[in-house]
Amino acid sequence: MLAAPHAMELDRTFHVDFRHRVHFTRDALHGDNATLSTVLADSSDRRAIAFIDAEVHAAHPALGDRLANYLGERTRMGERVPDLKRVEIVAGGETAKNSLGVCEQVLTATDRHGIDRKSFVIAIGGGAVLDAVGLGATLAHRGVRLVRMPTTTLAMDDAAMGVKNGINQFGKKNFVGTFAPPWAVVADECFLPTLTDQHFHAGFSEAVKIACLRDPALFDQIERDAPAIVARDLAVAMPVIMRSAKLHLDHITQSGDPFELNEARPLDFGHWAAHKLESMSNYTIPHGEAVSIGIALDCEYAVRVGVLARSDATRINACLRSLSLPTWHPLLAETDQLARGLEEFREHLGGQLTITLLRSIGSSVEAHQMDHAIVAASARALAPIR
Ligand SMILES: NC(=O)c1ccc[n+]([C@@H]2O[C@H](COP(=O)([O-])OP(=O)(O)OC[C@H]3O[C@@H](n4cnc5c(N)ncnc54)[C@H](O)[C@@H]3O)[C@@H](O)[C@H]2O)c1
Ligand SMILES: [Zn+2]
Repeated sequence: MLAAPHAMELDRTFHVDFRHRVHFTRDALHGDNATLSTVLADSSDRRAIAFIDAEVHAAHPALGDRLANYLGERTRMGERVPDLKRVEIVAGGETAKNSLGVCEQVLTATDRHGIDRKSFVIAIGGGAVLDAVGLGATLAHRGVRLVRMPTTTLAMDDAAMGVKNGINQFGKKNFVGTFAPPWAVVADECFLPTLTDQHFHAGFSEAVKIACLRDPALFDQIERDAPAIVARDLAVAMPVIMRSAKLHLDHITQSGDPFELNEARPLDFGHWAAHKLESMSNYTIPHGEAVSIGIALDCEYAVRVGVLARSDATRINACLRSLSLPTWHPLLAETDQLARGLEEFREHLGGQLTITLLRSIGSSVEAHQMDHAIVAASARALAPIR
């Protein structure tokens, strides 16, 4: 048979190199601290706009002025840091992700202040604000430079390390989003003292998660240090946060699948139920607490299907509770609705369902189906005895 005239087939594989730079520091906006100015120095356009989480702004009302003063001072010192064109306050918490509002705010300011791809969007806030502002920054001009300044334990030990941005839509967590590594992350522990106890503790579920997946020594450390973490002793809490951040970053940058093209998503251990519980509760359960419940549920399930030793599940459950984290919620009783979370989780990634289950503290396996009756029995088993 003759080939069709002008037919052509092209098939290329290509690679793009990314960098992901993370700095943990103290008092980032102090005049002597060069971390942020070094991150921002490589700017030919020299413009920046900043977005501050409303609750961070309430707790640190001088923050916008401090950022402007810091950049002004570094400019006077002869550094090529950007001019700060605008500081805006954005809705804090999951509200930031429950509409397009924050994203539109970023797009509008980007247009109004002549922000181009070599300019900077600085996002200061919890994981939700980083996700929503980040989405706006990756959409404007198909991506302007995003500097994340995480202000919660969870944003520091996990969310800011991610290469994902997103918001919730159609009652589904992170339904709209993009993959894009940030220009840099600058984490400043000085933000943490103003967090509520609930949100301070919530961030440690992600540290327990990554310890369970990758680092038994970190698990031992968290187990031992839980009382000091709960008491908010930063000398004890920060090493755990930083170790967790490093493990997340290492996985994302070195596991070979940063943009989740494969079906396995080990960093989302405990997350299928967590995401569903968040949306079932109308986002009143904080992400970190939902992850704690999700971990407890999947550990109980893993015991019941013979994958995980009961002693390990008991240890993990006790560790979560010693961090003042919940391991149960009344919504777990809504088993039909909860089980729909499995299909939503699969649908988000495509392909066959792939759930990470623990085999022991430090190692995991992939499961491609979850027995709904065993999920329901596991949920019932977690309920407190009355
Ligand atoms: N992109 C990713 O890879 C990734 C990874 C993990 C989690 N996340 C997302 O992160 C979000 C959770 O982040 P979170 O736990 O930081 O919660 P959050 O952003 O909802 O913040 C918790 C609360 O604390 C307030 N707050 C933040 N910093 C404060 C401070 N220093 N002082 C006083 N109040 C402060 C916020 O306004 C909010 O009300 C979820 O939406 C989750 O899906 C994203
Ligand atoms: Zn998470």
